[in-house]
Amino acid sequence: MIAVVDFGSQYSQLICRRIRELQVPAELVSWQTADTFLDIREVRGVVLSGGPASVYVDGAPSLPASVLARGVPVLGICYGMQLLMQALGGRVEPATTREFGQASVRHTGESALFRDIETESSVWMSHGDRVEALPDGCRSIAASQGSPHAAVAAADGRIFGLQFHPEVSHTVRGMDILGNFVYGICGCDTTWTTEELADACIRDIRTRVPADGHVLLALSGGVDSSVAAALVHRAVGERLTCIFVNNGLLRMGEADQVLRDLREWNPRLRIEPVDAVEDFLEDLAGVADPERKRTRIGHRFVRIFEREAARLAGAWGTEVPRFLVQGTIYPDVIESASGSGEAHAQTIKTHHNVGGLPSDLDFELIEPLRMLFKDEVRRLGAGLGLPASLLERHPFPGPGLAVRMPGEVTWERLETLRRADAIFLEELRRANLYTATDQAFAVLLPVQSVGVMGDGRTLQNVVALRAVSTSDFMTAEWTRLPWDLVAQVSTRIVNEVPGVNRVVLDVSTKPPATIEWE
Ligand code: XMP
Repeated sequence: MIAVVDFGSQYSQLICRRIRELQVPAELVSWQTADTFLDIREVRGVVLSGGPASVYVDGAPSLPASVLARGVPVLGICYGMQLLMQALGGRVEPATTREFGQASVRHTGESALFRDIETESSVWMSHGDRVEALPDGCRSIAASQGSPHAAVAAADGRIFGLQFHPEVSHTVRGMDILGNFVYGICGCDTTWTTEELADACIRDIRTRVPADGHVLLALSGGVDSSVAAALVHRAVGERLTCIFVNNGLLRMGEADQVLRDLREWNPRLRIEPVDAVEDFLEDLAGVADPERKRTRIGHRFVRIFEREAARLAGAWGTEVPRFLVQGTIYPDVIESASGSGEAHAQTIKTHHNVGGLPSDLDFELIEPLRMLFKDEVRRLGAGLGLPASLLERHPFPGPGLAVRMPGEVTWERLETLRRADAIFLEELRRANLYTATDQAFAVLLPVQSVGVMGDGRTLQNVVALRAVSTSDFMTAEWTRLPWDLVAQVSTRIVNEVPGVNRVVLDVSTKPPATIEWE
């Protein structure tokens, strides 16, 4: 296993994910707890992540002593490299020219880190500091225009540093460099499989939930909560009850379809549907602020869960279930809270997945997918036998259509959006392009636009079409849909959805925009 020590970079978990893609187990550990971790775990190598601090500033995260003491190979990335160089006696200073974005790097050809990699390749840089003087015994093994020490190695063949980020996809040979480190330098084998991951999650759930403990799961019918359900079902069998809440914020026909698909997949999975449309609409009446919408939805969700838990316990004659499973995945975590953390349990708090959960919640949270990216979750689901139709579904946010209609949520606006969205998705599927885009949906804008229909002037709603291509939902490109398809969707929406006279196409990348509009 490779330990990835987190110094606060946005990309720390991405490093783990890349190593797992190389089929080598990797775990993220915070720099503050790395000493304890390295003391008790069998590691073949350590990667030090980047981070936002400067190594020469008082109070900056420091190098845990056991990283060097352990005697295994170490690869420092960006801040991690600067920290290593400083710890070994080198000097780090602010760079006169900061390097952000693409850069060309030339390596010297003498290091195992660059084995079988062409001399010059394109990498991704993001740093304001740089190593000015190397410690004794270290040499530069690659340079870019802004960094004479773009990659460094110690004479012992054990310590390496990269000023650029091999984990981001813009570093063209990044995976090969990481592969050289984990296979060639650390001597790891390809032992990491989704079965192992599933087994580890199942073992972990069994340890946490006592033999007579009941578990509730917030089922949305999306990929994440369905995969979480399949995992937890493997772990605790019929002691799992999935609660599927129809909050009125779902897409057209979704409630029926989700129940049908999941019951077909596994008739033994216990699912309790709850109709709470009125409750949610009442809570959302007059609320336009997106965060307040999320909070209200989150609170209502939890109150429904508490009510259902008490009701089920009454019916079963057992204690009220203490555990609640959520299908939170890594991008939900990184975008709403701090990066590294405990892999499974934590006190419940406001976060991206359900949003605005109250702090007085009486459940212990189980989030088995918390450290995984979407495509890893899909692979895990496939390994657990979930049907492709379910695994291929685009993600859908917990607060549903409420965050796809800036402004107030009303039943009428929901129906307008549902219709427009259904047309968009139907046409995408008809053109066989549903899986060619990673997320596609309609948004109902809070503006009225002037139009002309027949001989009359109209003042009606505007619908935006959003389709994105992304691998991890943390950055995204807008999908170049064929114009004929866009034209067909637009024509159908203005003709078939009452109250809409204009359709626009969202051509924004993330960042600076987000995927959703709220
Ligand atoms: P953004 O809009 O932040 O979305 O670029 C990234 C991914 O997260 C989903 N998303 C949410 N999912 N609750 C969720 O469960 C939320 O409040 C929420 N907001 C955004 C979004 O659909 C996209 O897949």
